[in-house]
Amino acid sequence: MSVWIIVVELLIAVSSVSVSVKKDDSVKEEDILPEGVMKQLVNKFLKSSLVKAETDEENESKLSKKGKKKEKVLTPSEIQHQEYLQKWPILQARSAPTALHTAIHGVKNVDMQKFFVEIGFGSYVRFDITKILGRLGRYVVENFDAETCRLKLEGERFFEATVSKVHELLGIPIGGQSLLSLETRAVGDEFDKVWLGQFEGKSAKQLRVNDIANKLIESKEVDFLFKVNFLTLFTNTMGMVAGMQGEINFDVLKHVREDTDIRSIDWCDYIFHCLKLSKKPSTLTNKYTGPYTLLELLYLDSTNYTKLPVPRTRPAIKQWSTNLMSQRHDMELKEEYFGMSELFDESELPETEGFVAGCSSSYKKDLLKNLEEKLAVISNERACFEELLTTAGLEFPGDLDLIELHKKYVQIFKHPVALNGEDLDGDDDNGNDRRLSGTDP
Ligand SMILES: *[C@@H]1O[C@H](CO)[C@@H](O)[C@H](O)[C@H]1NC(C)=O
Ligand SMILES: *[C@@H]1O[C@H](CO)[C@@H](O)[C@H](O)[C@H]1NC(C)=O
Repeated sequence: MSVWIIVVELLIAVSSVSVSVKKDDSVKEEDILPEGVMKQLVNKFLKSSLVKAETDEENESKLSKKGKKKEKVLTPSEIQHQEYLQKWPILQARSAPTALHTAIHGVKNVDMQKFFVEIGFGSYVRFDITKILGRLGRYVVENFDAETCRLKLEGERFFEATVSKVHELLGIPIGGQSLLSLETRAVGDEFDKVWLGQFEGKSAKQLRVNDIANKLIESKEVDFLFKVNFLTLFTNTMGMVAGMQGEINFDVLKHVREDTDIRSIDWCDYIFHCLKLSKKPSTLTNKYTGPYTLLELLYLDSTNYTKLPVPRTRPAIKQWSTNLMSQRHDMELKEEYFGMSELFDESELPETEGFVAGCSSSYKKDLLKNLEEKLAVISNERACFEELLTTAGLEFPGDLDLIELHKKYVQIFKHPVALNGEDLDGDDDNGNDRRLSGTDP
């Protein structure tokens, strides 16, 4: 009987007489089954159903085909849910995190923790995201406007992606030199040939992220090839690939040289640059090539979904796992709640774990790096803030709330402290200044 129901469902689905009935767990099934496999299954069931239809009770098949049978009749809410599912079809991406996850956990002969801490990627030691949930993925990609860098939510609400946001989410080095501004290798430099030579006979165009992941897994030591392999894999999974077929983007290969200090590159700025360049897929089946993980994390981290509270730790990448993302995805999908949650109040600082993750080889080095990063975040945010403030000033001249806000802003930047924590200009205000501790009482 139950086989029969499935057959009928498939018949209905295929002939598109009506939308097929789906049980609660069918979404998951669909998430797992690639399109090709699904088609095969449908065909298989279709064939067996033709045989079955003759032996089974004729009345039942007639009735069910007309949709009169009880189990087959969709309630209005089921029909509505089908429409919701169709509105957000699964989006697949060339820049999924899978290969990065495989490589990080597949490397056996190299101390990855030491390597990660050295290059400032300490948060990736326990990287736990294997895939991005495709329906929410579709939602965030469709609702992201690369021009304004805004992710739109329901009810005309939105929030913005910034370089600092990339740092909060991904926890990679911020500030410092831009990757693309680094001098490219000299003409005649053969390193790109050496690099490509690792991939036995594959041309640059044929190369995919999995090839690079496999090279990393086979590695026996952290040499320059290893570093370029890792960074190329990282930028192609967390940033963007070069083409619709998943062709590799060679920005790292072109700009990182043997003597480059990887930690001193502004990786957040680079990933942000990828985000700005990313394009929405133009057809339903086109795959996304931009920073998929980042966009989904941006959504998950910024929205206050009260049914599944997740602490907002920094960087967010250490908190979120495929498991947690799936739970949230399935709950929101079931409720048809994409883009409906409240936004977190960004002025409340999320739980910060300190951005230099992993074991500290040198306290001083880490402390300085941490200060450097925070300063980069502040300058960046300050520039964004001042730009917004100017816009507001032009739009609402003389507005009292705005004037109040401006006063606060002036206060905050009025009192720089000396290295011993003392207020540099000695000016006291209404207890508003926050000094570094360490001065004697
Ligand atoms: C089919 O339906 C007819 C009337 O609707 C009924 O007389 C007949 O017994 C049914 N046949 C079967 C196999 O259930
Ligand atoms: C999230 O939303 C709930 C309900 O509106 C609220 O009580 C809670 O304070 C919010 N959490 C944060 C961190 O803003």
